[in-house]
Amino acid sequence: MISKQKGCLDLYGTTAKKWQYVNKVIDSLMEKYNYNFIRTPIFEASELFHRGMGETTDVVTKETYDFVDRGDRKISLRPEGTAGIVRSYIENKMYGDPSQPIKVFYNGTMYRYERPQSGRDREFTQFGVEVLGSDDPLVDAEVISIPVMLLQILGLKGVKVKINTLGDKESRDNYRNALIDYFKPHIKELCEDCNERLLKNPLRILDCKVDKDNNILKNAPKTIDYLNESSKKRFESVKEYLDELEIEYEVDSKIVRGLDYYNHTVFEIEASVEGFGSNNVLAGGGRYNGLVDSLDGPETACIGFACGLGRIIQALDLENVKLPIIDDLEIFVMYVSDTEKKYAASLVHYLRANGFRVDTEYNGRGLKAQFKQADRLNSRYLILLNDEDLKNDEIKIKNNKTKEEELISVDYLLYYLDEKLSDEDLDFSDIEEHHCCGHHGEEHECCGNHENGYHCCHHEEEE
Ligand code: HAM
Repeated sequence: MISKQKGCLDLYGTTAKKWQYVNKVIDSLMEKYNYNFIRTPIFEASELFHRGMGETTDVVTKETYDFVDRGDRKISLRPEGTAGIVRSYIENKMYGDPSQPIKVFYNGTMYRYERPQSGRDREFTQFGVEVLGSDDPLVDAEVISIPVMLLQILGLKGVKVKINTLGDKESRDNYRNALIDYFKPHIKELCEDCNERLLKNPLRILDCKVDKDNNILKNAPKTIDYLNESSKKRFESVKEYLDELEIEYEVDSKIVRGLDYYNHTVFEIEASVEGFGSNNVLAGGGRYNGLVDSLDGPETACIGFACGLGRIIQALDLENVKLPIIDDLEIFVMYVSDTEKKYAASLVHYLRANGFRVDTEYNGRGLKAQFKQADRLNSRYLILLNDEDLKNDEIKIKNNKTKEEELISVDYLLYYLDEKLSDEDLDFSDIEEHHCCGHHGEEHECCGNHENGYHCCHHEEEE
């Protein structure tokens, strides 16, 4: 047997349904925020990531999947989405579009050659957004609000928003020098990786996982003390907007982010769910005002974030959040013998075309086994076809829960099903109609303020 590669995932069954649900919520949320979907290639020139994410970052030095293609080009599988989107922004001259900023979102697989562990895969999926062409602090707050609202709608409670600022280039350089001066006399007491980071990327020492409890790290200089006036003012403004949006956050000077392109606002959203383990950052991002010009585009202010969908699903599972996934069938069409099979086929097709979730028997099972199959598929109604009824243009239909059975005219079937199935009001598949305002309080109570009279499904179910 050939096994899947280390750090990869087969997605199927109930977990796959949860992913599909999360994806629907993401699509719906992005429509509301007015972000457009963007898809860039899964592989790009290796140089893009080296120049974009920084030659010294762990991702670029240790984790990219690199290969040389048949045309001798150096290629990497994308380890993240930002560099590719910036390339696309420049290559497609999106900076010339008068409707700046360009607001885009993506949702796709990324590849990092990491040591596989819980929450850290080699192939993983990121949902992220990038806003290119605005330096407005309101945009920083809006971008932070997206994963916050997503997690709120999904019903995750144990979430912490941590923000920090690295300031502009001048502030970041001052801070970098202060860190080198501070760490130099202590460097032998820190791990091997930190020794390497000292001159190449001293900010990375601050989020070292090995030395995270070491007092040397705890007492290190703080970014906030090296900000120039304009950077300080900018950070204050971001915080004011976050307050306006009623987003709770904590300023954490240890948030410096692992990639070189960041400046000004940086943020992370952590799951504070018991049992999560150390890879508990659900979303991370920040401003990267210098990246477009460093990749040969015009000077452009940008900000974005990405979150790992696998980690979000893991957090939802650990909190036992019940997502409104569809794990039942509305109608199972059964037939006594091959005589009715063709009729069954056309009826199933007709009902599906009329919007019902329908299935039937394919493997020639007898009637008793068909009942069992209908139960396995959680079918709410059963249609039992037999030749005699059909000759009279009638159909037998059974409520699989109450076991009530009725013989109805074929002409009346759609009306009957519409009545019965809308009564049960269990169809949460249409997120557009089933809009959740996202304004849930501490206890995740449903405000009841939803469009079309629908209520927020999982909050309602919890009650
Ligand atoms: P990142 O912090 O490297 O940032 O990744 C963002 C999120 O992706 C992480 O918080 C985590 O949830 C998820 N993630 C990262 N690596 C893995 C992995 N090996 N397995 C599972 N999940 C993972 C970026 O990628 C930046 N491009 C974010 C950004 C966008 N900054 C500005 N714009």
